[in-house]
Amino acid sequence: MSGKRVIMAAGNWKMNKTPREAVEFVNHLRGLIKGSSSEVVVGVPFVCIPGVAEAVKGSDIKVAAQNAHWEASGAYTGEVSCGMLKELGVDYVIIGHSERREYFGETNEMVNKKARAILDAGVLPIICCGETLTQREQGVTKEHVRYQIKVALLGITAQEASRLVIAYEPIWAIGTGKTATVEQAQEVCGMIRELLAELYGKDVAERTRILYGGSVNAGNAKALFDMPDIDGGLVGGASLKPDAFEKIVRHDA
Ligand code: PGA
Repeated sequence: MSGKRVIMAAGNWKMNKTPREAVEFVNHLRGLIKGSSSEVVVGVPFVCIPGVAEAVKGSDIKVAAQNAHWEASGAYTGEVSCGMLKELGVDYVIIGHSERREYFGETNEMVNKKARAILDAGVLPIICCGETLTQREQGVTKEHVRYQIKVALLGITAQEASRLVIAYEPIWAIGTGKTATVEQAQEVCGMIRELLAELYGKDVAERTRILYGGSVNAGNAKALFDMPDIDGGLVGGASLKPDAFEKIVRHDA
């Protein structure tokens, strides 16, 4: 059981829903998740943030952006700063997602700069990591994830590390319907917690939330979230439907 940290159910909508659809969704979700013990987060496209931030007011739903630039302002066409997101009421920013790494060239060093800027703006990063199928087959999953997280956390203090969120998402499980087994997911999340203990001490490691992501759905959420080192999920596809997402939020019911 998770008598541990507050479970987080974070939706990653990716490039889905228009601003109007987003507000309708959140207005519906607000009622559905009332009284749940999980922390509920919706990770929405930039253009949906103003409407969603307004729509979640007075509810327990938190808002995440799916990216941010590390500079405060300047000549970076098409980018959005952490200060801009903060002003809109954003609580979290998802960084280092495998889709951003693969399609937009996001590197571990960039993830580290983004993490720093997000924390400096008074927002919290959700730092994604995870191996490809080849890396898993080659037996280098742990080394790879360890390296990703170690670089992402360079210069991040212990106090900051205890508040940010890490999401372990094996790339072969994202959007494929092929969830990692609870043992596979627990093994890597446990290793990440050991790394946090090594870097910041056991107290910090016990406080940092580590999520699993990759084909989380209403049917597998409870078993995953019950694992000792899995503190919730970063959910793509199943977060786009209110009923499916509610079931994940209320995995324990
Ligand atoms: P999925 O996506 O739940 O659709 O597999 C997870 C993610 O990419 O965060």
